[in-house]
Amino acid sequence: MKTRQLGTNGPDITEIGLGAWAIGGSWTWGWGHQEDDASHNTIMESLEQGINWIDTAPVYGLGHSETLVGQTLKDRRQSVIIATKCGLRWDDQRRVTNNLHPASIRKECEDSLRRLQTDYIDLYQIHWPHKNVPIEDSWGQMTRLQEEGKVRYIGVSNFDVELLQRCESISHVNSLQPPYSMIKRDIEAEILPWCEENGVGVIAYSPLQSGLLTGKFSADFLETLAEDDWRRAGNNPYFSDPLFSATIQFVEQLQPIAAAYEKSVAELAIAWTLAHSAVTAAIAGARKAEQIAANAGGSGWDISSEHLTQIADLYEQMIAPTL
Ligand SMILES: NC(=O)c1ccc[n+]([C@@H]2O[C@H](COP(=O)([O-])OP(=O)(O)OC[C@H]3O[C@@H](n4cnc5c(N)ncnc54)[C@H](OP(=O)(O)O)[C@@H]3O)[C@@H](O)[C@H]2O)c1
Repeated sequence: MKTRQLGTNGPDITEIGLGAWAIGGSWTWGWGHQEDDASHNTIMESLEQGINWIDTAPVYGLGHSETLVGQTLKDRRQSVIIATKCGLRWDDQRRVTNNLHPASIRKECEDSLRRLQTDYIDLYQIHWPHKNVPIEDSWGQMTRLQEEGKVRYIGVSNFDVELLQRCESISHVNSLQPPYSMIKRDIEAEILPWCEENGVGVIAYSPLQSGLLTGKFSADFLETLAEDDWRRAGNNPYFSDPLFSATIQFVEQLQPIAAAYEKSVAELAIAWTLAHSAVTAAIAGARKAEQIAANAGGSGWDISSEHLTQIADLYEQMIAPTL
């Protein structure tokens, strides 16, 4: 699979990385029950497809996603880039809270190293901003972990330009992990241009808008998801009307565009995120081997400018009015 350099001085990563949120299994923000064997096979299939990096987080399944990634990759550690995160902790009652205190970040890093069965993390990212600690203190700790070699590259997720600037003034932000898809485009105005100008790599999360841009969703399909799948909670605008129904119709209009390249809508959606010059790679989530195999074809080809314009017009007509 084609690779691109992460920012000005980061590693070469494949255009698609495997997202390991869903393989964390059941927890408050989980995707319902998940068999570990299926998760193991999904990780192995991603490597088979040439993908060279995996994005996980301690909070995905409250340690379970990292543990699975560690077990699966321990014999091939050198050949895979592991990205994980810090800043979301949980207690004995499985309640999740934000914590960006420097001592907490260090403790989380040690815990992640243990679960991942490794002595270094390739990319360590602050998962979400939080006002409980000045970001300079948190980023200072990230910088120290990098200097100590416990982590090779450091990044942030869900940050705005103001926070990015404050981190960058201390040490280089290797990457930003923002949400970005054909129907979630808020970062285009300020954040992506800033990253491009400052040599910050961008790894876009939820390029399939949590499965919505695969073409499999309908109101009936939503009802078939597990009771504890976060997409059924009813409080997410993307899985509620009017946006949900508008997206289903939007996806129907994408089918002929994808077909023109003999691709699926999911592959078109991934290729679309990769078409932005500021985006380094897309993190495609998968919980079954066949999903990551089907999505790998999102890399290595270009959508024509005519089709990009057509997609932009469809977005303006069908999605923008519902936002
Ligand atoms: N930093 C953050 O705050 C943050 C937030 C969200 C995500 N992320 C990262 O980004 C990754 C990807 O995001 P995401 O998992 O939210 O969303 P996504 O990549 O947009 O969608 C992934 C989900 O879509 C379904 N799917 C994938 N490929 C499919 C295919 N070919 N056909 C049919 N269904 C398919 C699967 O769920 P079902 O089979 O259950 O439908 C899969 O779990 C995460 O795993 C995580 O690593 C980070």
